[in-house]
Amino acid sequence: MVKFAVMHGLQYYLRTMEYGDVSQVSEIDREAFPGEWAFRSQTSYRKDLHNSSIHYIVACKAGAPPPSEVQTAPRLPWFKRFLRQERGLKRAETIIGFTGFWMMLREAHIIAIGGREGYRRIGIGEALLIATIDRAATLNANVVTLEVRASNTAAQSLYSKYGFKVMGRRAKYYSSNGEDAIIMSTDDITSMPFQAFFQRLKGEHAGRHGPIAARVG
Ligand SMILES: CC(C)(COP(=O)(O)OP(=O)(O)OC[C@H]1O[C@@H](n2cnc3c(N)ncnc32)[C@H](O)[C@@H]1OP(=O)(O)O)[C@@H](O)C(=O)NCCC(=O)NCCS
Repeated sequence: MVKFAVMHGLQYYLRTMEYGDVSQVSEIDREAFPGEWAFRSQTSYRKDLHNSSIHYIVACKAGAPPPSEVQTAPRLPWFKRFLRQERGLKRAETIIGFTGFWMMLREAHIIAIGGREGYRRIGIGEALLIATIDRAATLNANVVTLEVRASNTAAQSLYSKYGFKVMGRRAKYYSSNGEDAIIMSTDDITSMPFQAFFQRLKGEHAGRHGPIAARVG
């Protein structure tokens, strides 16, 4: 039986990102990170998917495929359809958020978390962060770290809620506007106090938004 999380009438689930998700993830990346998306090209996403140290998770809206998929797919010549099937260049699901992290020894470093506009403030960013911490723990990480723009108080509030603390600052880290980055990090995510705190937050999230259905491996 497939179970979905239901948020404000929206059904969605999380799963590991695949080749066919790259164009939609790039779309969200452009929207969510207007000053940075150029550094994460579609080619770099495809390369990342072959890198066993990098892990991407997507949030998919349950239901019909986006109209562009339905309209364009049957018109393609056979060789393009073949390539599309082979590489899974597009999938028939609407992606509404994504996250990625890379593993360095026992540290999971978050590359980005982004939600599609129109699907924010309904718990999806939080669901993606929960999945990241869970997945990092299963990969034997003991700490999760990240950099975030000094002005990005919404994201900082999400990370603080999950116990990330400010560890330092990188001056003029973002070349688009010379903005500083705040470095944030969790305590040991395998420790009993962190797990107790994390499980409580997960429970609260599930109570507000429904349990998270996930195929993340
Ligand atoms: C940051 C981001 C991922 C949050 O995702 P979201 O799905 O909108 O957030 P959620 O609904 O899951 O909110 C979870 C928590 O995040 C914080 N938060 C999210 N949006 C916020 C906002 N606009 N103002 C203040 N706090 C906010 C709150 O702590 C919230 O918890 P609460 O509901 O108990 O108040 C989303 O705003 C986004 O994609 N922003 C653009 C990209 C970005 O800045 N990414 C992070 C940098 S890596």
